[in-house]
Amino acid sequence: MADPAAAPTWSGRFSEPVDERVKRYTASIPFDWRLAPFDIRGSLAHAAMLHKCGILSAADLGDIRRGMAEILAEIDNGSFVWNLDDEDVHFNIERALTRKIGDAGKRLHTGRSRNDQVATDLRLWLRDTIDRIQAILRQARLALLDQAEVHAGTVMPGFTHLQAAQPVTFGHHLMAWQEMLKRDAERLADCRRRVNRLPLGAAALAGTSFAIDREFVARELGFEAVCENSLDAVSDRDFAIEFLAAGALIMTHLSRMSEELVLWMTPRFAFIDLPDRFCTGSSIMPQKKNPDVPELMRGKTGRMNGHLVALLTLMKGQPLAYNKDNQEDKEPLFDAADTLVDSLSIFAELVPGIRVNADAMRRAAAEGYATATDLADYLVKRGLPFREAHEAVARAVRLAEARGCDLADLPLADLQAFSNLITEDVFGVLSLEGSLAARDHPGGTAPVQVRAAIARARNELQQSRS
Ligand code: ARG
Repeated sequence: MADPAAAPTWSGRFSEPVDERVKRYTASIPFDWRLAPFDIRGSLAHAAMLHKCGILSAADLGDIRRGMAEILAEIDNGSFVWNLDDEDVHFNIERALTRKIGDAGKRLHTGRSRNDQVATDLRLWLRDTIDRIQAILRQARLALLDQAEVHAGTVMPGFTHLQAAQPVTFGHHLMAWQEMLKRDAERLADCRRRVNRLPLGAAALAGTSFAIDREFVARELGFEAVCENSLDAVSDRDFAIEFLAAGALIMTHLSRMSEELVLWMTPRFAFIDLPDRFCTGSSIMPQKKNPDVPELMRGKTGRMNGHLVALLTLMKGQPLAYNKDNQEDKEPLFDAADTLVDSLSIFAELVPGIRVNADAMRRAAAEGYATATDLADYLVKRGLPFREAHEAVARAVRLAEARGCDLADLPLADLQAFSNLITEDVFGVLSLEGSLAARDHPGGTAPVQVRAAIARARNELQQSRS
């Protein structure tokens, strides 16, 4: 090799330079450079611990801190040169450090391996990523609460089988979305507890013969505890799989919401409109305004699910402890994080922009015999067994259908032909507002209940912040 300084750190064991294609195949620097700030944080905590334990001199620690500060600044301002010959982010930074400060740089790796180093970096990165996603999830939930508040009493048809079923309020519908995102936040918080463990100290796989202080490093890096078993510490990636599973559910939820937005925006529904900044036109059809953003969000769910399956498959055949297979964990994770951050932040901005066509929603709710269940309940409250009430109302619906009108438009006498239990007050029950107001219990769609649910959710978001 022309430049001996470019030889890999481990080249002492080898009699010929590594094949060029193999070098490209095995290098992770094209993508793992993203771990750099976390790699440096981990190294600084490790060096501080080595010094505290009498393994590294104060002068060496000072040099390492100075060198790392320079490297971090270079990475930040874009002048740091990543080198494929140095394989990965860990070697790139260690070599740059040694070029800057000499022997102290070579001492940094005492009592450590890239195996516990990369596991630590990944956990630091993921913890930070989860915190960022949590903040955006919170924005998305607040946006939903605001829209739900405005539309706590706006009637729309609720659907089963995509057929108009019973009236609900648009606010109630949005609060259903909010519940999905709330559980997503809970799942991420739960996952974070298992991410937040320190692998460093496991070294290559068995621990190290140096008298290190893992608790000190854990405290320095804000980890809740150390990983208990060195073999597990370097090989475990189930924390990453959990994150991808939680992420796949977030995207699944966004995808379902997107599907509804797309449907509601078609002129057939015309329930909502989205601001132009979230839509695109057609190159050939001048009249088109397409909901590309929700469509793409729905589409990106595919890649999230793919990433989850990729990591599950990556792990399933691995014997303990570290295997190079694990290097393949990063691209799916990075892409998952980007997809989640982008999708959730666009969703949070899109929700306040939803313009509601309350008349179209009301018309659709009034057309679908959506209060038929209310009529059945009315008869049951007057003593008719539910199955008989169901039958009587079904016949009333057929009559209304034949006349092309709603149940509430049938004259009292015609309704009474189906049951003599029906009296004048039935029209209060058959109205959309009557139907909504009747569902007056926690979790129901009565506007008072929707407002109460919004207040509870706001309260909970407030508390989780403090
Ligand atoms: N780039 C490697 C990875 O991402 C770092 C750990 C390498 N360890 C090793 N023994 N080859 O997993």
